[in-house]
Amino acid sequence: MTGVRIDGKIIAQAVKDRVKQAVEELKKQGINPCLATVLIGENPASATYVRNKHKACEEVGIITKDHKLDANITQSELTKIIDELNLDSTVHGILVQLPLPEQLDEFTTTSRISPLKDVDGLTPHNAGLLTMKKAALVACTPSGIMEMFDYHKIDLEGKNVVLINRSNLVGKPLYQLLLEKNATVLTCHSKTKNLTELCQSADIIITAVGDRNKFTLTPEMIKDGAVVIDVAISRFQEKLVGDSDYEKIIQKASFATPVPGGVGPMTVAMLLKNTITAASLSTQIGR
Ligand code: GUN
Repeated sequence: MTGVRIDGKIIAQAVKDRVKQAVEELKKQGINPCLATVLIGENPASATYVRNKHKACEEVGIITKDHKLDANITQSELTKIIDELNLDSTVHGILVQLPLPEQLDEFTTTSRISPLKDVDGLTPHNAGLLTMKKAALVACTPSGIMEMFDYHKIDLEGKNVVLINRSNLVGKPLYQLLLEKNATVLTCHSKTKNLTELCQSADIIITAVGDRNKFTLTPEMIKDGAVVIDVAISRFQEKLVGDSDYEKIIQKASFATPVPGGVGPMTVAMLLKNTITAASLSTQIGR
């Protein structure tokens, strides 16, 4: 049996089409949605991601403000820039690209962003609201994955989901979103025992390790008809790869995402959606 390819480019385009319409509506109300990005240092992968985010904003009519900062910037200098963006009423969303250089603390940085402009859903305020099913701004990769389930009408109720990631950007928010849909969710990580057996019993596997030297999800590790969402993207043997080989996995899975062209485009599309949400929130508080 060959499964169905979950094509992130197609689903992302459907989201972008809706965002484009919302941008036009907001512009009629005199609001020009604007995303400010902050990129620190010279990490080539991060630079590519930010470039892609700008390009996507342009496609749907969202304005961007680009802040490229020196790799050696201090925490207090960065905090000052975030504070300025928080106060700038023409900016609706703020994204600080991660990972940060060593001298900067991720929590200090992300929690400084105004929760109303937190398009990554990373502030304690928005992460807390998510646990109570009240978040307006949710981390982009997790909400993009939920959009993929929705698009393909993949029912989550009562399903056993194995999540291989526990980060603030992916694993933790996904856990909450899946739980909201009545899935039974198991969060696995580098210290998890019997990962193979746990994967073999899962209806859905969502994997985001990103290092093939440490982990590969093989067809032997999944049951017939499982759904496999591969969030990872890394360079391995001169190629961009996920945690699994799509062509092999799809022979056994009912649905699977390719890498590239799977989850990646969804992350960008949901960032656009969050920027629109943040721009709408700004009208509700009269800013
Ligand atoms: N680095 C990798 N993914 C992301 C993301 O979704 N947001 C931010 N800010 N940084 C990232």
